[in-house]
Amino acid sequence: MQKQNPKIYIDGNSKRYGIIGYPLKHTLSPLMQNGMISYYKLPAFYFPLEISPDVFCKTAKNLRYFFEGFNVTVPYKEAMINYLDEICIASKKIGAVNTVYIKNGDLIGTNTDWKGFADSLLLDYKVSLKDKNILILGAGGSARACFYAACQQNAKSVIIANRTFDKAEKIISDISFKGIKTYAIGISANELRKESHNSDVIINTTSIGLNKKENHYFSFKEVNSKAFVYDLIYSHETNFIKEAKKRKLNTGNGLKMLVRQGAYSFEYWFNINPDIKKMFSFIKNNNQRKL
Ligand code: ATR
Repeated sequence: MQKQNPKIYIDGNSKRYGIIGYPLKHTLSPLMQNGMISYYKLPAFYFPLEISPDVFCKTAKNLRYFFEGFNVTVPYKEAMINYLDEICIASKKIGAVNTVYIKNGDLIGTNTDWKGFADSLLLDYKVSLKDKNILILGAGGSARACFYAACQQNAKSVIIANRTFDKAEKIISDISFKGIKTYAIGISANELRKESHNSDVIINTTSIGLNKKENHYFSFKEVNSKAFVYDLIYSHETNFIKEAKKRKLNTGNGLKMLVRQGAYSFEYWFNINPDIKKMFSFIKNNNQRKL
């Protein structure tokens, strides 16, 4: 496929957008955001701003003077909340923001990760969470967004399994919705057996797969043959997904979620509901890494 190099013209009137995080070497957001800025011929540009933790606490509040809007990624999604003037209900419950915009000088935070996740499952993989039994592995920031999405979409039950049990329990107490069965478990084979059998959708949010050599603790032996298995990691096919495929289960990864969360951010900043296929093509065609 042909490369589509985004054409960005920067002058004194260009509006500044970007992403903050640490490290930021691997971010794909500038590719897709600048791609769409050029596609819609907007007088703006989007750049990565890597900020180390000691600089972050000194500058976070002042980012309003440098950006019109920005994305927030690891490790600042939670900490950024302390520097905002306002956050939406979802961000408050999830305890994290990934999108900030500036209104009348105020920094306003929102979370588009959970929407990107829910949309991607439904629209890219045709998997609805409604009335389903969901099993989430891991209890970090990503798990919190997935948990919120599952509750929002009226899942039947949402179980969180985590090595550190207290973190899973905290998600239940912070986010649970009325009428949805939710509870936390540990990750021993015994605890996971029953849940793996009952689950319709199994979501890995742990960082285990980032290490290509490390095997996941989860066993697919008793998983329902109709279950859908999803791993948020998209940089390569994880052992978790390889195991699921060996059992002929349907699988998905977080790449399209990344695009969809970015599309919601774009909409907040520019008031344009961007063409998702086009946005995806900027990552797929211009990325140096094989996704
Ligand atoms: P993110 O912000 O992407 O959610 P995170 O907050 O670092 O990332 O969370 C990673 C999750 O992977 C955590 O739930 C972690 O378990 P703990 O809460 O017990 O630390 C889980 N995790 C990472 N490595 C793991 C391993 N080797 N075994 C089990 N769980 C692991």
